Amino acid sequence: MNALVRRCVARAGLPCIWRGKCYSSGNEPAESNRVTPMLRHLMYKIKSTGPITVAEYMKEVLTNPAKGYYVHQDMLGEKGDFITSPEISQIFGELLGVWFVSEWIASGKSPAFQLVELGPGRGTLTADILRVFSQLGSVLKTCDISIHLVEVSQKLSEIQALTLTEEKVPLERDAESLVYMKGVTKSGIPISWYRDLKDVPEGYSLYLAHEFFDVLPVHKFQRTPHGWREVFVDVDPQASDKLSVMKEGNMWKYVPMLGLSSRNCPSALHQL
Ligand SMILES: C[S@@+](CC[C@H](N)C(=O)[O-])C[C@H]1O[C@@H](n2cnc3c(N)ncnc32)[C@H](O)[C@@H]1O
Repeated sequence: MNALVRRCVARAGLPCIWRGKCYSSGNEPAESNRVTPMLRHLMYKIKSTGPITVAEYMKEVLTNPAKGYYVHQDMLGEKGDFITSPEISQIFGELLGVWFVSEWIASGKSPAFQLVELGPGRGTLTADILRVFSQLGSVLKTCDISIHLVEVSQKLSEIQALTLTEEKVPLERDAESLVYMKGVTKSGIPISWYRDLKDVPEGYSLYLAHEFFDVLPVHKFQRTPHGWREVFVDVDPQASDKLSVMKEGNMWKYVPMLGLSSRNCPSALHQL
């Protein structure tokens, strides 16, 4: 679990889940004791429809369209909550750019390729790679390159567009479409934005995912004396303004053979 998710967990009021305890240690920073809008939202959700999986919890905390951590703010860089390697030095992206070109040559110089970045943050990594592509223009001149960004954050996609696109060419926007934004990069390459990887067109593609996989929601399971159980998040029975993971005895049974999950199974069916 990366530092970011731990921070979000603390903000949403579930302090001990990653340390394997059931309830708050009481030593969390004062901030975690406040009832934030996210905590209120999660409490309401759990009280209405029952305890949620850790995956559902992560999804809400990070990408809920109204209040999710990633959706409406720029948390990256020196002035943000955390910093990533592309934000520290351009060398990282430039080396990757050279590596991409070398892979393209080694794999037979396909006439076209898509550079697909998952979770592009501020767009810095792709910008550094595109600088190399421009410098190696004579090598790539026969290749039809396009850029495809998979990003759920409204705020960060705007920053990516500022970093990467030519401002004289207006962006095409369509919030309802699978391709919610389209434009042209500063070096004249077509660039498109998607919310989901499955919407990126098929084609010869080179993928880039930096500090991305650990933001994706995960289900958490625990081996108990009664077998494997999925960990669920509930309102803390001892403090109605806090969340906690359910105690082992109340953990819900994982039934892989039936393909049951919290989403498609009434909660009572899971409970032992
Ligand atoms: C930790 S940041 C990494 C940013 C960038 N790759 C870097 O290294 O600076 C995670 C990025 O993934 C995006 N993101 C988070 N969850 C996502 C999801 N489910 N689908 C697509 N992008 C997501 C965030 O908005 C952000 O751009």
